[in-house]
Amino acid sequence: MDAEKRLRELRALLQDHAHRYYVLDDPLISDGEYDLLFQELLGLEEQHPELITADSPSQRPGGAPLEKFAQVVHRVPMLSLENAFNAADLQGFEDRLLRFLNQENATADQAVPLSYMAEPKIDGLAVELVYEQGRLLQGSTRGDGSRGEDITAQLRTIPSIPRTLQTTAAARLEIRGEVFMDRQALIALNQERLENGEPLFANPRNAAAGSLRQLDPAITARRSLKFLAYGIADPAQSPCSSQQELLVWLEGLGLPVNGLARFCPTMGDVTSRFEQLAAERQAMAYDIDGMVVKVNNFALQHRLGNKARAPRWAIACKFPALQATTRLLSVDFQVGRTGAVTPVALLEPVEVGGVTVSRATLHNRDEFERKDLRVGDTVLIQRAGDVIPEVVKAMVEGRDGSERPLTMPTHCPVCGHALVKEAGEAVTRCVNPHCPAQRLRALIHFCSRAGLDIEGLGRKSMEQLFDLRLVRDIPDIFTLRQEQLAGLPGWGAKSADNVMAAIEAVRHPPLGKFLAAIGIRFVGEITASLLEQRFPTLDDLMQAPMEALLEIDGIGDQAAGSIVDYFSDSEVRAMFERLHQAGVAPESGRLDPREDQPLSGLVFLFTGTLMSLSRTEAKKLVKERGGQIATTVTQKMTHLVAGEKAGSKLKKARELDKIVVTEAEFLQMLRPRP
Ligand code: IVH
Repeated sequence: MDAEKRLRELRALLQDHAHRYYVLDDPLISDGEYDLLFQELLGLEEQHPELITADSPSQRPGGAPLEKFAQVVHRVPMLSLENAFNAADLQGFEDRLLRFLNQENATADQAVPLSYMAEPKIDGLAVELVYEQGRLLQGSTRGDGSRGEDITAQLRTIPSIPRTLQTTAAARLEIRGEVFMDRQALIALNQERLENGEPLFANPRNAAAGSLRQLDPAITARRSLKFLAYGIADPAQSPCSSQQELLVWLEGLGLPVNGLARFCPTMGDVTSRFEQLAAERQAMAYDIDGMVVKVNNFALQHRLGNKARAPRWAIACKFPALQATTRLLSVDFQVGRTGAVTPVALLEPVEVGGVTVSRATLHNRDEFERKDLRVGDTVLIQRAGDVIPEVVKAMVEGRDGSERPLTMPTHCPVCGHALVKEAGEAVTRCVNPHCPAQRLRALIHFCSRAGLDIEGLGRKSMEQLFDLRLVRDIPDIFTLRQEQLAGLPGWGAKSADNVMAAIEAVRHPPLGKFLAAIGIRFVGEITASLLEQRFPTLDDLMQAPMEALLEIDGIGDQAAGSIVDYFSDSEVRAMFERLHQAGVAPESGRLDPREDQPLSGLVFLFTGTLMSLSRTEAKKLVKERGGQIATTVTQKMTHLVAGEKAGSKLKKARELDKIVVTEAEFLQMLRPRP
């Protein structure tokens, strides 16, 4: 294709994508792909400068402002930045600076010292705040660089934006900075949107933009936005002579600045800082998509000046994207311990932030139907922190009609038994208790921390023993012999000894723990402990008629029915007989004297709104009953009490496989044991 034709195409493509990104907050391609197109345009224009048009995206930043807001003219245009991606690009940047300043061949005594400020590039939205005599007068978006939208009312709702500065001296200050949403807030917002059936925000930038572009500032106010200042329209508005001084001065005025900005005496220091930030970014509370490098000295910045779209004295060094687009090839259905069938997207492998991703969870049927995903779709996927990759959305515009809607299978992909989706439940289930997939999951659960906690028999070992047919059901665990394990790949005499000891230690488990571990449907830890309180032995429970179970406060038809069905199954009875022969004898009411309080050993966290008591009161009740309180979702936490409108904590707790209870179940747990 000739250059002129390709340039025309690139201009149209970039304009279109920029409009979607800046104006509609609904990008169709990832930032990385946009950058690639942009780089191609810049490359071609460099080879053919005669083909540069005035409307080329290289000649102006961003998109046009929305019409619904009043327009604001920026006295000093808000420029954007050129991109670098690695150390070589950064060195190229410095080479250009030296060439421009005519320093390439300067001797040591003539050389101007080039030093830099390196600042995290937060993935948010650029805004300008105008202060006069220290009072916030106006706030605006960047818009197309020379004209933005007046979002003063919306910006006033952001707590970190001061309405007055610690000075009244300066006549007019035009502060520039970034408005953004941190990860927690974005996860919570998206969770809420998911529950309301609204489209999710693909990234923090779109979430910040979408929240600021609300004609009703009350909506903005609810969105937990933050602000960090990083610059000023004209350095002459400040008494500073460098970017480093400016950040200190801004902070002195009461404006928040990023504590991670660093002074770098040489480009070598800039590169090290870039690598450091790239390594630390995952652990940060907010997303950064790169690092902005600025020539520190204002006099030099002035000498270097601007090009059409970006200053010569600064550059954005971008990290590899954590979002990417790829094709949805097919869907795999995984069967879990309780028979829940989870759809998993199989993707054309794509690199996301240095990791190759080929699978992503689709949660459940309702979820993929809501997202209207189809096999053959181009999909946007993302990886945030170390969370499992997920499919954000389908790029609907790219469809050619050959895509096929996803369908949930009617039969279990592992055992072929018919699947069931109960009304009101999101989950589709295989209800065959002998399904091998469920058996393996059940074994994993039995040995896990939520079960009997047999150290050394984690998921990996269990899969190995299951595949080797050494353990096919629960009794097999208790007839394992040391010499069977010691010779297996990855095992040795020592690890085999340890596992044998761990198994020995649970041969007389507390009945409640044991009941929760064997995985009877509708019998979780709470129901199991209610059963333990009522029945002195396992045999008593196995004989118990439905009526006896229903007498227990907290056990309803569903759980009672499931328990009776379970114990009347001949295979279950055979299994218990084998357990008995293997010397497994659960013991009821074996409470440590220190542990006689109902909540001892348990760690609670509350989220959402409680109906019948305040959080303070709830916490007090936990402590009075020997329990502890957690402040965040951690491994240590054992129970999450989810009130109304529970959000991100609930999601995180589920990811960590923690016990989640309702307010009513919590109140039930407070009762003293009989
Ligand atoms: S300086 C002329 N500093 O990156 C200088 N920008 O294309 C222009 N950004 O959306 C900006 N952190 O809002 C600068 N520490 C920082 C920044 C930063 C984030 C954003 C900026 C704009 C984009 C630049």
